[in-house]
Amino acid sequence: MTAKIAVHDLHKVFESGTGQVVAALEAIDLSVPAGQFMCIVGPSGCGKSTLLRILAGLEHPSSGQARIEVTRPDRPVNAMVFQEQSTFPWMTVRQNTAFGLEMRGVDRRTRDERVAYYLEKVGLADFANAYPYQLSGGMRQRVCLARAFASEPEVLLMDEPFASLDEQTRILMQEELLRVWEGEHGRSVVFITHSIDEAVLLADVVVLMTARPGRVKATFAVPFPRPRGNLAELKAQPEFGRLTYRVWELLRDEVLSAQAQDMARRAGGAGGEPEGPRWAPTP
Ligand SMILES: Nc1ncnc2c1ncn2[C@@H]1O[C@H](COP(=O)(O)OP(=O)(O)O)[C@@H](O)[C@H]1O
Ligand SMILES: [Mg+2]
Repeated sequence: MTAKIAVHDLHKVFESGTGQVVAALEAIDLSVPAGQFMCIVGPSGCGKSTLLRILAGLEHPSSGQARIEVTRPDRPVNAMVFQEQSTFPWMTVRQNTAFGLEMRGVDRRTRDERVAYYLEKVGLADFANAYPYQLSGGMRQRVCLARAFASEPEVLLMDEPFASLDEQTRILMQEELLRVWEGEHGRSVVFITHSIDEAVLLADVVVLMTARPGRVKATFAVPFPRPRGNLAELKAQPEFGRLTYRVWELLRDEVLSAQAQDMARRAGGAGGEPEGPRWAPTP
């Protein structure tokens, strides 16, 4: 089977203006089949967002390849959902959701139909004419989800989309995301999270990355059938506890080395440049 997303021997090195070099990603190999939900976990600063930005075409790899198979050239290659609220404040919920379709020149009837369908799916049908400031944080993230799905991208790329939501809203959003996604067929997702629970609840496959430079340390297949429905019930299963523990066992060392890197950087030691004012003092 050909992969929907194929990453081969990908490296990314950042060079700062002062000549400091940061190896962010090293020899990443990933293959996401059509319809697979992949979650990536790894310590802070290990290159997760960089990897996603490369997949989105927002950043170039230093070497290696990242490819997304395109089957519908009339549709966008990807849609992204970020942690930060990325709704347009001057547009209504409906206009926000229709944004990608409108940019692509999709005719009005199709656009309205598709927007209505996804707003219904994320429970915002009654808020179509509201503005983002009238919504809660969770509702604004629902708008972002609806917009991403409505644009019918080849792949969905999500960078910690629920990280700033409170725990209860987050559980509801995870269920909602799965409900919408499981109702579609064949849409591949790469979802980044620092929550092991979230990764195991959502994913078919969990990829664990090392501390910087980010490499793939391990891959875990998640055996829970779909649709997953009530996620609290899933969490109560012994297999859920076993799997999250196995992920944590391997992640723990990476978090410790990421923290050590960070401390070295702050101390101005081997980890990099010292933190301090980056501006020149005024005379
Ligand atoms: N544009 C950039 N220029 C320089 N360094 C960067 C840039 N973007 C990310 N980095 C560095 O690359 C590393 C990985 O960053 P990132 O991908 O944001 O990590 P994560 O999302 O896993 O927390 C970090 O050390 C970060 O400081
Ligand atoms: Mg990040």
